[in-house]
Amino acid sequence: MELFRTIAEVREALAADRAQGLTVGFVPTMGALHLGHLSLVERAAAENDRVIASIFVNPTQFNDPNDLKNYPRTMEADSELLGSRTCHYLFAPEVGEIYPEKDTRQFQFGKLESVMEGAFRPGHFQGVAQVVSKLFDIVRPDRAYFGYKDFQQYSIICNMVDQLKLPVAIVPCPIVREVDGLAMSSRNRLLTPEHRAVAPKIYALLKEAVSAARNGEDPATVRAGLIAKMEAIPLLRLEYFDIVDERTLEAVVSWDAPGRKVGCIALYAGSVRLIDNIVFDL
Ligand code: PAF
Repeated sequence: MELFRTIAEVREALAADRAQGLTVGFVPTMGALHLGHLSLVERAAAENDRVIASIFVNPTQFNDPNDLKNYPRTMEADSELLGSRTCHYLFAPEVGEIYPEKDTRQFQFGKLESVMEGAFRPGHFQGVAQVVSKLFDIVRPDRAYFGYKDFQQYSIICNMVDQLKLPVAIVPCPIVREVDGLAMSSRNRLLTPEHRAVAPKIYALLKEAVSAARNGEDPATVRAGLIAKMEAIPLLRLEYFDIVDERTLEAVVSWDAPGRKVGCIALYAGSVRLIDNIVFDL
């Protein structure tokens, strides 16, 4: 695996690959890699001739300076993990390489960025769109791989690609979970043992919500039921649980409405913010 620190190095290597007719799969990350990220790399390797991953803790998507400061940075271990898979290139730029000056672009995502993560993390998706559009411009991948755990991010990126008419296919990949059901996340390593022990409840309650829906409860009752159970767990502090249409992110009022429905949750386990989701396959 070759490590690149500059945009020029990435462009040069990938231009040579493209000149030979090779396809490029891209896995953008913020590092602190886990098996979820590696599953994206494996999928990219199965579907493309060249795989490039990026590690860049993007400052513009953090609305909380402490979160940015505490975000785990594990470059050495990350390179080893990527080296253990088929990953041809790693792009790990400094902040000044990506933002030589302040990025003042504003994207219009309408409702997609005003609900759920957008409501609780103002400006977050503007920052995500800024960095992902820059990375796409640098890498020019044929396909880019995103985890479904960040379901709203996936929707926003698809919308951005449509708006900018970018020639890249966005590939959503399934959530990878620990054996006890906790969705893999770079933030899990920040959990205290006490919070780590209670965190599997999140997925357990999401599965219970799907069972309740299968047993005939309407969306509002299912939502209220999960919220009540979550609020009864002392170590977890719920931010939101919403059941939304996969495409519009509008709240679901009836299971009979067309389209996939996704239950999305965000909460704090101590000082660590976690998100997860489940598809209501009824
Ligand atoms: O999902 C992430 O890790 C980040 O939001 C991304 C897509 C790499 C942009 O910084």
